[in-house]
Amino acid sequence: MSDAATGPTDAPRYRVAVLPGDGIGPEVTEAACSVVEAAGQRFGFEVTWQRLVVGGAAIDAHGVAMRPEDLLSCEDSDAVLLGAVGGPRWDDPRASVRPEQSLFMLRGGLGLYANLRPVRPLTALMDASPLRRELVADVDMLIVRELTGGIYFGERREATGPPGKREAVDTVPYGEHEIRRVVRLAFELARGRRRLVTSVDKANVLATSRLWRMIATEEAAASVGTRLEHRLVDSCAMSLVTRPADFDVVVTENLFGDILSDEASVLVGSLGMLPSASLGERRTRYGTFGLYEPVHGSAPDIAGQDVANPLGAILSAAMMLRWSFGREDAATAIERAVEAVLDAGYRTADLTDVRRGHDLAETLLGTAGMVTRVIDAVTASTSGRALETVR
Ligand code: IPM
Ligand code: MG
Repeated sequence: MSDAATGPTDAPRYRVAVLPGDGIGPEVTEAACSVVEAAGQRFGFEVTWQRLVVGGAAIDAHGVAMRPEDLLSCEDSDAVLLGAVGGPRWDDPRASVRPEQSLFMLRGGLGLYANLRPVRPLTALMDASPLRRELVADVDMLIVRELTGGIYFGERREATGPPGKREAVDTVPYGEHEIRRVVRLAFELARGRRRLVTSVDKANVLATSRLWRMIATEEAAASVGTRLEHRLVDSCAMSLVTRPADFDVVVTENLFGDILSDEASVLVGSLGMLPSASLGERRTRYGTFGLYEPVHGSAPDIAGQDVANPLGAILSAAMMLRWSFGREDAATAIERAVEAVLDAGYRTADLTDVRRGHDLAETLLGTAGMVTRVIDAVTASTSGRALETVR
């Protein structure tokens, strides 16, 4: 970024490992990096980006989804910015090397036990959701998904036996410490919000869920001023779309969180909008070490065509600035810039309402065009509202 002659001499310099991955991953991470650079110029910080290969790209280059030395480089940085991994070329479920393994190496290897997925529909996108406007209008929820335990990391036995008698096993181990730390974080986060924690489990069937429920109840007793409700995952899945505005912080185990967060994405109009942060216990000089990635996948069908929505990645970078670098100023400026661009009527293809055709009041942009508008809004004014509307 800026050198000593032009930039502030004592500007903090954050070290970020960038993992573009596959499909649209490279496009959306580049987008996020350039928006962060623009914010750095305005708010006086610098970033050193270290680009590393993961996922299918790493399988092609190195024969593994992620090299151990690249994991060490991630560990050595202040934060990690990830695009997405996977694609049809590496999709064989019987393959022993798969792109997703890089995600588990990162999550497990870096101790990123809490995955935060905020779901807050923006006013400009209310009509992009298939749900009625009055249902989504007041939605403001934070899903906290346990990310390093449960069925994802439990013992597994791939299918064995003769055809007709094949058998496979997955297991769901959860220890008290693993549950307690993520539930405790959920209560901490609820204290800065509407003070309601919904703990989601399947306690009428699963032993791990009964332990989860016990620990959530204990944590609730220790957390003054917050309310706890227990919900079974099946009925919670229904309420997420029938009365989504009732939720504040939702905390749940790994697999339930995976499923419920994709379901909740329909509330914001497009999976392309959703950011996420994965946090652990480690603190850096500036904040909490974390990995930031859009919730969407690698979308190989639209890769390289300049149509991907970069906003999920850009909003993930804003979360990085907030959590890992303590830059509430820059994080808020980026979030406001995204809102301003959408308020001005600009849309990527995934955000146009296909049911009513492309509205003339909306201006369709490609990935690069959207990034330019967001950068303009970040640099333009403190309110981020200097854009001319297209209406
Ligand atoms: C997610 C994804 C991953 C998961 C896949 C790609 C393994 O769906 O981050 O939600 O299941 O955790
Ligand atoms: Mg998922």
